[in-house]
Amino acid sequence: QWTMENFIDLEVEKIREQVQDRKVLCALSGGVDSSVVAVLLHKAIGDQLTCIFVDHGLLRKNEADDVMKMFQDGFHMNVIKVDAQDRFLNKLKDVTNPEQKRKIIGNEFIYVFEDQSSKLQDIDYLAQGTLYTDIIESGTKTAQTIKSHHNVGGLPEHMDFKLIEPLNTLFKDEVRKLGEELGIPKHIVWRQPFPGPGLAIRILGEVTNDKLETVRESDAILREEIKQAGLEQDVWQYFTVLPNIQSVGVMGDKRTYDHTIAIRAVTSVDGMTSDWARIPFDVLETISTRIVNEVSGVNRVVYDITSKPPSTIEWE
Ligand code: XMP
Repeated sequence: QWTMENFIDLEVEKIREQVQDRKVLCALSGGVDSSVVAVLLHKAIGDQLTCIFVDHGLLRKNEADDVMKMFQDGFHMNVIKVDAQDRFLNKLKDVTNPEQKRKIIGNEFIYVFEDQSSKLQDIDYLAQGTLYTDIIESGTKTAQTIKSHHNVGGLPEHMDFKLIEPLNTLFKDEVRKLGEELGIPKHIVWRQPFPGPGLAIRILGEVTNDKLETVRESDAILREEIKQAGLEQDVWQYFTVLPNIQSVGVMGDKRTYDHTIAIRAVTSVDGMTSDWARIPFDVLETISTRIVNEVSGVNRVVYDITSKPPSTIEWE
């Protein structure tokens, strides 16, 4: 009978047989799929696994530290963290087109990964979190024509590694169960989707350090309050957006001319279609008040009430 425990035992056996005493590399993003692959591989081959975690500076508040803490301190894995924030920000300078941002971030990710992996000796295998759905969908990628999705799975084919894809028979909810079985914390296993290009596609127009700070801080407040209100399970995805808008406000008795933050919160099954989440007004009020009070340079908060279609979930 097929159970998750059986699956783990069988996969561990299979991986050991395949890898023998050779070395495996894994690109860690902190997302569900790459986390599960890394922990599964580590269970099978321990220190023969090296992970590379590229911090592109477009992550949410505390995310990079949390990833490192979990894998290094929690699972005792070999993780190389690459601090590439400046590199990505330089490449994104003056870039305002959403698709161009995606392309630049995707390419830069590959360059950074190649740089790092070329410094490592004797790596034979690359482990990837390809899911069953990734394989069956690759024939009919309609979404691709709307937005060219980049995620960490897309590493270059010319890299001289043999691939290990232990999740390629599983669906997303099976991967989550597998993750739980492997002891990955619930908040990682059940976390909301986060796009590969990160906060860069939640800042309309040029990405700068200041704008990243604004979107990161407001997003952290939103997440805190959604959690506080017990809505984490009801809302499929929720985040803040920094549109390129300044408007007039009044703070004390002084005129302000500051940024607007938009809240995006949706219900969905698979991200292909979505509806805006009916978050209670008083929760929205708390979020709005906190963002204006705690995030400097923001004097207005709006709520996005469009479904997909005709909108998309992300603003870029
Ligand atoms: P849209 O905005 O197309 O988003 O309605 C649908 C889902 O996909 C996520 N998304 C991305 N994920 N790379 C990713 O890995 C991307 O470039 C990307 N763009 C959008 C989005 O967060 C939502 O969950």
